[in-house]
Formats: sequence, structure tokens, C-alpha cells
Amino acid sequence: MNNILIGVSGGISAYKVPSLIRLLIKDDYNVKVIVTEDALKFVTKETLEIISGNRVYFKMFDNVSVTSPKHIELVGWADCLLIVPATYNTIGKLAGGIANNLLSLVASAMDNNKLILAPSMNVNMWENKILQSNLNKLKKMGVNIIEPDSGFLACKDTGKGRLPDIEIIHATIKRVLNTEKRFENIQYIVTAGGTEEDIDKVRVISNRSSGRMGIEIAKQLYFKGADVLIIHGNVSVGIPIYLKSVYVKSAEMMLEVINKNIGNNTIIIMAAAISDFKIKNAGKEKYHKKELRHIEFIENIDVIKNIKRDNILKIVGFALENGMDRKSAIEKLKRKNIDTIILNDVSSIGSEHTKIEIIKRKDNNIIEFEGTKQEIAKLILDHI
Ligand SMILES: Cc1cc2nc3c(=O)[nH]c(=O)nc-3n(C[C@H](O)[C@H](O)[C@H](O)COP(=O)(O)O)c2cc1C
Repeated sequence: MNNILIGVSGGISAYKVPSLIRLLIKDDYNVKVIVTEDALKFVTKETLEIISGNRVYFKMFDNVSVTSPKHIELVGWADCLLIVPATYNTIGKLAGGIANNLLSLVASAMDNNKLILAPSMNVNMWENKILQSNLNKLKKMGVNIIEPDSGFLACKDTGKGRLPDIEIIHATIKRVLNTEKRFENIQYIVTAGGTEEDIDKVRVISNRSSGRMGIEIAKQLYFKGADVLIIHGNVSVGIPIYLKSVYVKSAEMMLEVINKNIGNNTIIIMAAAISDFKIKNAGKEKYHKKELRHIEFIENIDVIKNIKRDNILKIVGFALENGMDRKSAIEKLKRKNIDTIILNDVSSIGSEHTKIEIIKRKDNNIIEFEGTKQEIAKLILDHI
């Protein structure tokens, strides 16, 4: 269980902080809060105390202990310090080395890599060169900055400066808390969802893939600090806004986008359900009912076989087989020349919970597991 110290400075979006704290507590984090004096004009101490379940800190010289000063105690307790919202003023203090309230004092003693700032302010303040230079300076020193969103601001202006969605802040905390290094310097491409092939202008061939497995894998990779791109067809599960994503319709488009995005060291995890067949002469207009009897299915392009392999470290495929047919999965692993195949049962489509087997080309030891797709995503990453 991680300890998150939240610093609230005096910006209008401080009213969103209680919702963020609720999310973190639900996710099993311990939360303590420090506020600046001006933050209390925007959110009450009582709300923050009730929601976090801990007393709120704000005075530097309250009950000063000679053996263990409060700011050092808080730094020792915290796995990271998130300042949300981080005001123009507080950012200026941190960049200038000023520590004249409890929040800036705690930040001064915190490891920069464990410091996360979520700036939020009016667009003119955001575009001010002094602020931008302060942020650049902090970034260079290892401080994590969450870019604000653009849109309609509380001050009625439109532009950059809005506090980003709390889902993005939550994901950034997970990324910062991650201490694993093994996912760095590798680019990950994850495919998800079901592709679609035209029958005619109105009808399509598709499948019932929800995209959940690929999305879970991409999320876990993001939390582990990886550079991840999700290339997806139709999905019924939302794609988190913090993930880089590209929508593709057909198998051919999926192959094109994969090949275009392969970097120097890439691992590809193919969790998408790609149509095995397409229509020979897909109709330009709507086929008449009678004509539909005569449409011809032809084999679709094999995406995995046509991936450019030059800079690929590994390809992980999925095999969805009736009755967990292991023989068929192993045959697919060899035929497609891939490193690892995840065998799962047809009942897995669209469900939250499933059974899998991890089969590797260079290792006869087969791993069997049953659990949620989130648990499975973590297990798969441990094995690649
Ligand atoms: C109504 C009002 C709203 C404000 N909203 C913001 C804001 O969203 N972002 C910001 O950086 N400053 C904002 N300010 C200015 C800060 O409150 C001010 O700079 C204050 O000194 C910040 O102190 P602190 O950084 O110690 O909390 C606002 C001021 C007022 C009067």
C-alpha cells in the first residue's frame, strides 16, 4: 500500500481534489493532505480531513517537535508528493528555491523524481514565459509535470490551463510510484478490439471482442513506465485517455499502422480479434438481399505474418480456441513464427474473468492461470 502526500495550493480547481482523494482511497492508497493558506479559500479543511481520513497539515510552526520536525516526518512518510492544483505562485516558489510555507518546505526536502505537479490556471498565466521557464527548470531537475488540458476555464476564458481529468492524474501517480526499470527503452504496441470488413456500404463482418484484454495490458504497461501505443478496432470498453491510441477499421489498416509505428526496439502484443475473412467484391452500394446469397468470402491478410520483423524484439499472439485446444495454439505459434502465445477459451470473449495458458516457443513450461483480465495482463507482462 502506497502513501500519497497531496499538496493543495490556492487555485480554483482545488474543488476537484476531494474526488481525486476518493479515487485514491478506493484504490487502497493512504492519503495525507497539506494545504496552503490560500487553498482553504477554495476547499475546506474539514472536507479534506473527512475524505482522506487524516488530519490536514498547513501550519509550519504548529506543535513543533524538537526531535522530529513535521516536514521531515511527512517526507519520510510519503512515497510521492502530488501538488494539485499547483498554482503559478507555488510553482514559482519551487523553481526559485523558496520554502516559506509547509507545502514548499516539504517539497524542498522531497526527492524531485517523487514530486508531481498538476498546474492549473488561467490561460494567460499558463502562457506566461516566467511560468514556462520555471516549469522547464523543474522538469530538467526530474520533477514530473502533468500538462493541463485545453478548454473552457473557470475564469470564462478558453485555452490551456484546465486541470486534467482525475483519471490522468491517478495514472501518473501509478507511473511515478513504479520502480521497475525493465519496461524502459522498449516501445510497446498493443492491439485490441475487433476489426471490421465491409460486405457492402451498410453491412460488415466483425466479431464480439470487447478490447478489454488489450486495454488492460496497455494500462499495466503505462503504469510500469513503458512507452505504449494501443492500435484498436471496435471496442466496448473505454480506452483510458492517458493512453496513446489509434483507431483502425480493417485488418489491412491494422497492419499498415503497426508497420508505420515500429520503433528501434519494439514488442508487439496482438490481443485484437482480426477478421480471418473478408468479402471478395465488397459492394460499393448496398447489396440486394438476393445478391447476398452469392457473396464470396476470401481469406484476409495475415497481419502477424506481414509485420516487418527487423526491429522487433518479440511478438506475443493470442489464440482463442474451443475447449482450450492447446495443440492448435502451438501449431499457430509455429506457423506464425511468434515468441509467445496466450491460449484462451471462446468464453473469454467480452468477459471480465477468464482462463489462459501462456505457451512460449523457447520454453516447454506452460503456465496455466485463471483470473480477471487485469490479473492476466500483469502475469503476461511478467512472462515476456
Ligand atoms: C478567485 C481566485 C482564483 C484563483 N485561481 C487560481 C488558479 O486557478 N491558479 C493559480 O495559479 N492561481 C490562482 N489564483 C491566485 C492564487 O490564489 C494566488 O497566487 C495565491 O497567492 C496562491 O497561493 P499559494 O500558491 O500559496 O496557494 C486565484 C486567485 C483568486 C482570487
